[in-house]
Formats: sequence, structure tokens, C-alpha cells
Amino acid sequence: MATKTVATRKRRAWTTTVFVKQLMAISGIVFVLFLLFHSYGNLKMFLGQEAYDHYAHWLKEEAFVPIFPHGGFIWVFRAAMVLMLVIHIWAAAVTWKRSRRARRSAYVVKRSAADAYAARTMRMTGVLLFFLIVFHILHFTTGTIRTGFIADSTPYERMVATFQNPLMVVVYLIFIGLAALHVSHGFWSAFQSLGWVRGGTRKFMEVLSGLVGALIFLMFALPPLAIVAGYIS
Ligand code: HEM
Repeated sequence: MATKTVATRKRRAWTTTVFVKQLMAISGIVFVLFLLFHSYGNLKMFLGQEAYDHYAHWLKEEAFVPIFPHGGFIWVFRAAMVLMLVIHIWAAAVTWKRSRRARRSAYVVKRSAADAYAARTMRMTGVLLFFLIVFHILHFTTGTIRTGFIADSTPYERMVATFQNPLMVVVYLIFIGLAALHVSHGFWSAFQSLGWVRGGTRKFMEVLSGLVGALIFLMFALPPLAIVAGYIS
């Protein structure tokens, strides 16, 4: 009997709403750091082909050698990203299921219209982002989907060939727009789940969150826009 109680309690500790939301927050913050790093890295397009391709090569082959073997860091990074993605999606599914169940119950305090709208928007942008990320990896990383570039082109060549096409610029602007929207709400919401937002700091965190989303959008948008405008060729 006592063992059962302990086991039940343990299970509850791992699946409490607070804990699930904290997991979602931590994985989300890791993604925001990745997006800041990735969008900043893409700005190296402005330094020319050699600088950008060297940077891409360094990330894939040389990063943190000899802590990791040659080509090792990228796989550690990929494994970490997949783990974060699984955690993030699982936590989102659990939270959604619980909020649906709670809505059916007569005892819960109704959420504000703004909260309900934010939750719905996060779900919608999250699902769309998932499919766009799959497309993006098949496009730029594996080169399975090719838009004007050949199989053994360099990352710089892939970018320049792709964004000659205004339609691809629009597709990527939608992609990064969705990512920025998701971050604009998710960032402060993550800090709230971690208990770091007090009444007085909420407004500040909301503004900061919007700024982080806008910064990510701007840094990602500059290279494709510069390419389509003929500034990078
Ligand atoms: C204008 C926007 C973007 C551009 C031009 C861009 C460009 C690139 C390029 C060129 C690569 C491949 C690098 C290589 O394999 O050599 C790449 C990889 C990747 N990008 Fe983006 N990216 C953009 C936005 C995003 C966004 C918004 C996300 C996530 C929401 C994202 C997630 C990734 C991931 C996960 C990889 C794979 C890294 C790996 O495992 O090799 N990217 N991106």
C-alpha cells in the first residue's frame, strides 16, 4: 500500500502541469537561442562566399575539436535538437489535452479571451512550423528538394540560387514570420512558467519577447531580401 502511494506520488511529480510547462519552457528557450545563433550566422552571407562557406564548414567539421572529434559536434547538436523537439511537442500535447478536459469541467476558472487566443495561435504556428522545418531541412541541409542549385553546391550557392526566386523569398518570409510570432509569445510565457515573471515585470517581459521575435525576423530576412534585390550574388 505504502509502495503504491509513493509510486503514485512519483508519477504525479513527473506529470504535474507545472513540471510539463517547465519542460516546454526550457526546450523553448533552447530553440530561441538556436534561432538567434542561426539568424546571426546567416548574416555572414554579407561577408561573401568564402566567409559563409567557411563558417558552415567550421560548424559541420571543425567546431569544438578536440573536445569533439572532427564532424562530431553537429551530431551532438542534432541529437540535442531532436530531444528538445520531442519534449516540446509532448509537453504541448499534454497541456492541450488537459486544457480541453478542463474546459469541459464546470469547476475551472475560465481563461481570459487573450489567453485562449494566445494558446490557439501557439498551437497553429507550432504545427505549421513543424512542417516548414521538415521542408527546410530537406531543402538546405540534405538538398533533397532543390530550387535552382545542383546536388554538390555549397551552402552559399544554395542560398543565392534559391532566393533568386521571389516565390521562395515569400515562402521563407512566411516561415520566419511564423517563427517570430511563436517566439514573441513563447519567450515571455516560458519565463512565466519558470516562475520568473512577477506582476511588475510582465509588461517588460512581453515587450522584450516581442523585440526578440522582431530581431530574429530581421536577421533571418536580410540575406534573402539582399539576394532577391541583387545586392548579394
Ligand atoms: C531565411 C531564413 C533561413 C535561412 C536562409 C536558413 C538557412 C539555412 C541553411 C543554409 C542551412 C543548412 C546549412 C548547411 O547544411 O550547410 C540551414 C539549416 C537548418 N536550419 Fe535554417 N535557415 C532559415 C531559417 C530557419 C528557421 C526559422 C529555423 C527553425 C525554426 C531553421 C532551422 C534550421 C535547422 C534545424 C537546420 C539544420 C541544421 C543541421 O542539422 O544541419 N532555419 N538553414
